[in-house]
Parts: sequence; structure tokens; C-alpha cells
Amino acid sequence: MSLSFTPLKLGILVSYLRQEEKLILAAARARGIDVVPLFDRDLVLNLSASTARESGVDIDVLLDRSVVHSRAGYTLHAMARWGIPTLNSAAAVTICDDKARASMVLEAAGIPSPRTFVAYSANAAIEACEALGYPAVLKPVTGSWGRLLAKVNGPEQARAIIAQKAEHGSFHHEIFYVQEFIEKPGRDIRAYVIGREIVAASYRMSEHWITNAAKGAVSVPCEVTLEIEELALRACDAVGARLAGVDLIETDQGLKVIEINTGGEFKGLMTTTNRDIAGEIVEEAVRIAREAKDVAEIAV
Ligand SMILES: Nc1ncnc2c1ncn2[C@@H]1O[C@H](COP(=O)(O)OP(=O)(O)O)[C@@H](O)[C@H]1O
Ligand SMILES: [Mg+2]
Repeated sequence: MSLSFTPLKLGILVSYLRQEEKLILAAARARGIDVVPLFDRDLVLNLSASTARESGVDIDVLLDRSVVHSRAGYTLHAMARWGIPTLNSAAAVTICDDKARASMVLEAAGIPSPRTFVAYSANAAIEACEALGYPAVLKPVTGSWGRLLAKVNGPEQARAIIAQKAEHGSFHHEIFYVQEFIEKPGRDIRAYVIGREIVAASYRMSEHWITNAAKGAVSVPCEVTLEIEELALRACDAVGARLAGVDLIETDQGLKVIEINTGGEFKGLMTTTNRDIAGEIVEEAVRIAREAKDVAEIAV
């Protein structure tokens, strides 16, 4: 049964409108889709409501582009309860927004990723650095844009950075995420997956070892090899993501997955490909909404 003429209302959960969100809104409008940005700070989720509409949210499908991980997780969870399809599930976002959880899932699925330790105290974190060897990388378990990452070259630096983190005392600094440092060729790879397809990939080049676009890395085209495609899709499968920017790193033993960003930015990648990433995200949203509507109609 085709429902291609049923009007759809696409909601986009945002914290603010970055270039990517503006492009997605424009792409939806260009396709005649009724699209509404839902600012996370304004949302009131009535947990007792039995439908999204009863809670004041009148949409057929939700795309999460919030930069506040906790808000995204709760909102997607509420949508799942109300039967509103979302491009990524609450479960996938909860895994990907926590580097420790994501590493565990990737390891369990046998997906190559850097050796990683999790420790809960300063002494245990130093032990983890010693076990991994130097340099080692310390990361907050939640975070992005390359913020608060530290490369420690030896025990003295490790003790100084870990002592600082311990002093801060917040959740993010009480969980020590310690990873082997990978000597990479001045770049990493951002591969973008929409649905079951890899849309494009780019190298992010930088003199600095942290190659986030937000830190000034330059994006250049990267051919999507079979290895990139297979690994990015396997990584998305493992965490249950349907839409993600996957960070890959080149090593002597082939590619490894650094992280999977369910709300991945694509402004750098966009400059390296002819693919219309914003448009393809919108089309995926429409596909998901129609699938859900078809299922609902068949069930009636
Ligand atoms: N273990 C590592 N070895 C070498 N470089 C790394 C390692 N982990 C991260 N990086 C570099 O730092 C960047 C940011 O790391 P990532 O884990 O993706 O954090 P964020 O969530 O802040 O983007 C990566 O894109 C990569 O360039
Ligand atoms: Mg990253």
C-alpha cells in the first residue's frame, strides 16, 4: 500500500541551528515537507501522556540534532514510547554518546578499535596508562569537537592530568577513559552513513593529533574503499545507528573505529562531495516515517 501522498510532519530536535540544521530544514522545505525545529530547551515532555500529541508534540518522525546528549536520549526514549519513529533509536544514541559504552559494544562485536581501559580512580587510571604504555590518550566519556582530550607522554604528565581531572570531581572526570595513542598519518577519516549506505567520506587533515573539523582540521575528499564501507556499516550495525558520522583511524593493522557520532556534523565533509547530505538525511526521515505508517496501517 502506498502512502506517498500522505502529508508528513518532520520534527528536528535541535539545541541551536548550526549550518547543518539550516541545510536540513531547507532541504525538507524544498521537498514540500512540513518541518519544525523543536528546541530542546523549550520542550516539556509530559511523561504521563499516552501520545506525543497529548504532550504537545505534533510530528510524524523525529530527527535528533541536539548537541545535549542527555536531552536527546530522554526525548528519543519518549518518542519510542509514543510510537513516533526516529532516525536513530534512544538505545543507539545512549551507546554512542558514551565513549565507554560504545567501546564495549564495538569490542563485543569484534570491530577493530584502539585498546581502551576504563578506570574509576586516579591511581587506577595511572595503572591503566602504564598498562597501555605511553603516549596514552585520556578522553571524557561524553564530549565532542575534540574537547578535553589529552595525550600523556609519560608517567609525570599522566599524574598531572589525572590529578586535575580527579579534582574536578564531576561524573565526566570520575570515569577515566584511557586509550592507546595511535600514530596516524596526520589525518583521520569521517565516513557518513545514512540508512544502509555510506554516502561519502573525507580525510580530516591537521598538524595537530586531534583532527576534528571544530579544531581547524581541513577536510579533503577520501575515496570510499571497501574497507571504509564495510567497517563503517559494521560499526553502525553494532550500535544500532541508522544515521551517523563514523570516525576512523588508519593504523599499521588496517582501519580502526574511533567513535560513532549519531548527530555527526558534516560541514567539512560537504565541501568534499557532490552528494546532498542534508537532502539524503531528509529522504531517510521520510522513508522511516512511511515505513512506520505502513506498519501501523497494516496492523489496523
Ligand atoms: N587513540 C587515538 N590515537 C590517535 N588519535 C586519536 C585517538 N583518539 C582520538 N584521536 C584523534 O582525536 C580526534 C577526536 O577524538 P574522538 O574520540 O573522536 O573525540 P570527540 O568526540 O571529541 O570527537 C579524532 O578524530 C582523532 O583525530
Ligand atoms: Mg570525533
